[in-house]
Amino acid sequence: MTEISEATSLRDLLCGSVDASMIGQTLSVCGWVAKRREHGEHLAFLDLRDHSGVVQAVVDGSVDVRSEYVLRVTGRVTRRPEGTLNDRLATGEVELTDCEVEILSAAEPPPFQIDERADVDEQVRLKYRYIDIRRDKMQRNLRLRAVVNSTLRRAMERQGFCEVETPLLWAPTPEGAREFVVPSRLHPGEFYVLPQSPQIAKQLLMVGGVDRYFQIARCLRDEDLRADRQFEFTQLDVEASFVTQEDIFAFVSEAVLDAAQVATGERPGPISAMTWADALEYYGTDKPDLRFEMRLHDLSSAFAGTEVKAFGAPCVKAIRVPGGGDFTRSKLDALTEQAKTLGARGLAWFRVTAEGLDSPLARFLSESETTAIKALDDARFGDLVLVVADEYVVASKVLGALRLTIGAPPVSDGPHRYVWITEFPLFEGVDEDGHLVSAHHPFTMPHLDDVDLIDTDPMRVRSQSYDLVLNGWELGSGSVRIHRADIQSRIFTALGISEEEAALRFGFLLGAFKYGAPPHAGFAFGIDRLVAILAGEDNIREVIAFPKTQSGADLMTSAPKGITERQIRDLRLTFAPKG
Ligand code: AMO
Repeated sequence: MTEISEATSLRDLLCGSVDASMIGQTLSVCGWVAKRREHGEHLAFLDLRDHSGVVQAVVDGSVDVRSEYVLRVTGRVTRRPEGTLNDRLATGEVELTDCEVEILSAAEPPPFQIDERADVDEQVRLKYRYIDIRRDKMQRNLRLRAVVNSTLRRAMERQGFCEVETPLLWAPTPEGAREFVVPSRLHPGEFYVLPQSPQIAKQLLMVGGVDRYFQIARCLRDEDLRADRQFEFTQLDVEASFVTQEDIFAFVSEAVLDAAQVATGERPGPISAMTWADALEYYGTDKPDLRFEMRLHDLSSAFAGTEVKAFGAPCVKAIRVPGGGDFTRSKLDALTEQAKTLGARGLAWFRVTAEGLDSPLARFLSESETTAIKALDDARFGDLVLVVADEYVVASKVLGALRLTIGAPPVSDGPHRYVWITEFPLFEGVDEDGHLVSAHHPFTMPHLDDVDLIDTDPMRVRSQSYDLVLNGWELGSGSVRIHRADIQSRIFTALGISEEEAALRFGFLLGAFKYGAPPHAGFAFGIDRLVAILAGEDNIREVIAFPKTQSGADLMTSAPKGITERQIRDLRLTFAPKG
C-alpha cells in the first residue's frame, strides 16, 4: 500500500506521529487542546490532540488558550527530561519546545470532557455528537466501519459483482415494516416511499442481465428502535443470477470473513450451516448464540407415561446449567417468572446433588424419570436441570430464552461464532383475515419438495431462505427467489393477495418477469450490526455517526420538526388538528 502523506499546507504531520526519530527537527502540528497544565509561572504544557493521538507542547505561560481551542503549533521535537517520559503515550518520549502557537479557532468550554473514561449521558453525547466524535472510541468505530465497507466492496468486486445504485424515492417494497413516505410536490396527494431495502430493484436488475449485483445500500424502515435497530441503516445488498443458495453462501461468506479478518486480525474458519428446525430443537431460537453450549434436550419419551401433572404435555424439554446448583431461590423464582411471561405454564428445576435430585418435584418422579434428569447432558453434582413441559414450540422457545438469560455473554464478548440458518418455514403464521403470512417476503422460493404442501399443510412448507447469525444477532437474510409465474401465483393465493392487488403492489416486477427472468437468489446483511459486534459494541448507535435516539429523535438537529408555510403550500398538505 502506498504511504499516505499526513502533511497539508498547515501541518507537517499528525500529532500522534511525532516520535524520537524526529528529535531536533522543527515541525508544525494542528489540533485541539486536550489539556493545559501550568508549569511554574512562565510555562504551560499543552496536550494537542487530533484523531491520531496527542503530543505535548511546552509553551509560554502567557499564551491564552484553553481546552478545545484549535491551534497550529510549530516547535522543535525534543527528548522529554529524564523522569517525565510517558510510556502510555505513543509520543511519550518527546515534546515540542520553543513553540510558536497560532490560534486557528477559539472554543467555549465543551459540554463534557473528551475523555475515554468520562461516563457521559448518551442524550448529551448525541446532542453534541460532533464533540463526541472527537473521542477515541468514536474515531475508532467510524474508521473501523470505513475499513469494513471498503473491504466488503473489494470482496464483492473481486468476485465479479457490479455495484449499482438504486433509487431512494421509490414505491412500496414488500419487507413488511412500516414505510417512510415523501409527499410529491409535482403530483399533489401522491407519495414516494423510501425503500425498506432495494429488494425489488435488485430483482429487476437480474431481469436486466446485470448477473451479479451488490450495493452498500441505505435502507429506511419506520419501526420501533432497539439496540440493533435504527430507522436508517446500511445493508450489504447482494443478488446474483443462475445460482443456488450455496453460491450465495460462498459469495457472502468471503466478504464477511474478509471484513472480520481486517477488523480482528484473524480469519474465522468457514461458516457452517444449521437448519431452522435444528436451531429450534437445540437452541430454542432461529438466532442461536453458539459461543456457549447449554443445548436443549428432548425428554418427551422419558416422560411419555408420567404421573406428574406438571409434565403432562406433548413435549418435555430440558437444559443443564453447569454449576447452577447454587442458584438462590429468588433467582429460580425470577427464571420461573420469565418462563411464565414467555407463555410457559411453569418451570421445574432440579439440583443435582450427591444425595440425588433436590427439588419440590423430585419425590413425585418415577425412577426412570429421575435417571433421565440425572443423566441429562452428562450432569454432575452441583449442576441444575431446568425443565419445561408444553407444546413443542413453547417449550423450545422458553428454554431457549432462559438459556440466554443464564449463559449469554454480552453480545460483543468472546469469540465470533457465525452460522447460516437454512430451510426457514415459508409461512410464519396466519393473519386476522385467516391468510398465511410470509416469513421472509412473498418472492421467496419454496423448497421444491414441499410445493404440494402449500394447499394441504402450509405451515410445514420449507423455504429456500436463510439467515446469517453472529453471536445471537441476526446479521442478514436472503432467499432464492421465485422466477416462475405459476409458483408465484400459488403463493399470492395462499397469502390472500388477489391478482388485482398483486398487480397494484408489485405489477412492475411481475410485468418484468414476463420478459425473461433468470433464476436468481440474494442476500442482505446489516453492516451496522456487523461493525457493532466487530467493534465490541452492544448498540449500533455506537458505530453510526449521527444516529437517532430510542424515540426516533435527532437531538442535534431537533428533527423531526415542522416545515415552513411555504413548503406546506407547495406540497398542498393539510393537517388534521393535533390531539
Ligand atoms: P431483512 O429485512 O431481513 O432482509 O434485512 C436484512 C438485514 O438488514 C438489517 N436490518 C436492520 N439493521 C438495523 N436497523 C434496522 N431497522 C434493520 N432492519 C434490518 C439486519 C437484517 O438481517 N431484502 C431482504 C434481503 C434479501 O432477501 O435479499 C431484506 O432486507 O441485519
